Amino acid sequence: MTYKDKERKFKRYNITTALPYANGPIHIGHLAGVYVPADIYARYLRLMQEDVVFIGGSDEHGVPITIKAKKEGVSPQDIVDYYHKIIKTSFEEFGISFDIYSRTTSKIHEKTASDFFKKLYDEGKFIEKTSMQYYDETSKIFLADRYIVGTCPLCGNDKAYGDQCEKCGSSLNATDLINPHSVLSGDKPVLKETKHWFLPLNNYEDFLRKWILEEHKDWKINVYGQCKSWLDQHLEPRAVTRDLDWGVKVPIEGAEGKVLYVWFDAPIGYISNTIELYPNSWEKWWKDSDTKLVHFIGKDNIVFHCIIFPAMLKAYGEFILPENVPANEFLNLQGDKISTSRSWAVWLNEYLIDLPNKQDVLRYVLCANSPETKDNDFSWKNFQMHNNSELVSILGNFINRTMVLTHKYFGGKVPKMGKVNEVDEITINEIEKYPQIIGSLIEEYKFREALFELMNLARLGNKYLTEKEPWKTYKTDIPSTQTSINLSLQICANLAILMEPFLPFSAKKLKEMLNLTKEIPWFEAGRIKILEEGHLINKAEFLFEQIEDSVIENQLQKLMDKKEENLINNFSFPEQKSQISYEDFSKMDIRVGKIIEAEKVLKTKKLLKLTVDVGIDKRTIVSGIAEHYNPEDIIGQEVCVLVNLAPRDLKGITSQGMILMAEDEKGNLIFVSPKKNISSGSTIN
Ligand code: 2FM
Ligand code: ZN
Repeated sequence: MTYKDKERKFKRYNITTALPYANGPIHIGHLAGVYVPADIYARYLRLMQEDVVFIGGSDEHGVPITIKAKKEGVSPQDIVDYYHKIIKTSFEEFGISFDIYSRTTSKIHEKTASDFFKKLYDEGKFIEKTSMQYYDETSKIFLADRYIVGTCPLCGNDKAYGDQCEKCGSSLNATDLINPHSVLSGDKPVLKETKHWFLPLNNYEDFLRKWILEEHKDWKINVYGQCKSWLDQHLEPRAVTRDLDWGVKVPIEGAEGKVLYVWFDAPIGYISNTIELYPNSWEKWWKDSDTKLVHFIGKDNIVFHCIIFPAMLKAYGEFILPENVPANEFLNLQGDKISTSRSWAVWLNEYLIDLPNKQDVLRYVLCANSPETKDNDFSWKNFQMHNNSELVSILGNFINRTMVLTHKYFGGKVPKMGKVNEVDEITINEIEKYPQIIGSLIEEYKFREALFELMNLARLGNKYLTEKEPWKTYKTDIPSTQTSINLSLQICANLAILMEPFLPFSAKKLKEMLNLTKEIPWFEAGRIKILEEGHLINKAEFLFEQIEDSVIENQLQKLMDKKEENLINNFSFPEQKSQISYEDFSKMDIRVGKIIEAEKVLKTKKLLKLTVDVGIDKRTIVSGIAEHYNPEDIIGQEVCVLVNLAPRDLKGITSQGMILMAEDEKGNLIFVSPKKNISSGSTIN
């Protein structure tokens, strides 16, 4: 029995990937979280000769798209047309091998989503509810949560949205906001009655509990845990319609001006795209229990794919449910959360301009750092390390050495297998294991480990060459040299097959170099007779090249420039604090002082220990200015000091007062000091 013959529970695989919003280009976080793992999975299953459909598409509805359109003074359709094209091209350029990449503004999708809603509506699966919602009387529309901005009741951020405060992370109701105003007109919105349709998720709670918590203990811990926490808090009816003029119209009378909620129509997009691809045979992908449905998503989408969409499918009947939802955590960039609005990202379209033809390097690094079990970080230094120390030094080096030696000693022809010693035998046994080791890890969604094992095969190759030393045996022992080169070439051929899901561009190039013209399935790897004796290989070329420091420095500079730009663009001075009385003010004793000693506080980045002459005494003050001033430069600096502040301990030093500093929009700290010389101890009133 070969690896391929093992009993499979499913006859075919329906692999879906979260439909990205078409309101911006795709960045490395998207690729690492969803599309690279999904593509590895799809490519591997195809190489296993399984029946696969791999679905992608743009999510083109929802409020963020309408907001972007308003901001840019164009229509939502213009926005999605523009970004859909960019996103689709990026996926193509990075080798994401979708069978279809469509969009939720397609006619087929509008019909599919609309029919889906209508069937549930006709069967009485929704409940109708009237509630009070904010309405903008100037713009004459109900305001979606993202159209309402106000002050967060929890942290005071005056730019909190109606559904969330991005500063403190709390989720909010629009009515919680203090001083709410409309993003459209700036006016204070009024509460007005409106009717919506709700899917009573509570009716599906028992089914979901059993299906997820009992039958899907195999799901990733992060996914299972999030589902359990949602279910333990109990589910409530969720509105599936919105007052908006952009989206799939609610297909019933009396629902003018209302559209399906974007999270109702988007997952139906997976079905619509399958229908578009296979108009006559789509049902087997969605309604046959022999099909394994797997949703690849990021962690912010878990509730929609594990709870809401399955409840929708269950309410509809007929459909299969996902077998697995291997959601990933998030990828950060240089230690900071990736953010589209702050432009803190590496955009795929820009990456390829700066690092042309290096798709596989990025795919490799993103898979090696994949946020599979926890958030992970992408840094340019680490990118360079993975390229130079792994792709170049381990994988590329082994392949290049083998190819060069074949040309040098055997005129580019695969030599026959000579005599076999113990090292050869151990290596042959090792090679055999890899297809199954890597394949099983991929099927368990452990893509990082799978990639690591792929590299172990290249490491094995390097170790083998080092042990066999064909460059020495060539002079003394031709049969041993023949075996060494033959086996090394077989390892290269195995690598060409097994690296295809991870590094499709390099796999293609390697196959060309090895002159491997036929498609060899995954389960035929592991053998040492892929290349026949006498087979002629092509010229050796480098698969990967060193990335120099200057390239990395350029990328880092680009990010630094972005940070600076963000600071300036997004800066606003803090709001005026709440009023105080004259009495409150007069309690503060502020004096002119002079810094007479300064030193860094050990093991801190920000703190300086200062001795300040404040006229009445000389005292110690710990100040958070170390990133702005060198201790030696501030001796003699005149300062203003709040001298009657209660002492407090900072890193074991008692600080007796506070130096007043002005802070500008870039976060620079500048001393506040009298313009003319004045004696220390002078009061400031
Ligand atoms: O989070 C997002 O980017 C959503 N547009 C994902 C939608 S996934 C699916 F339901 F279409
Ligand atoms: Zn807040």
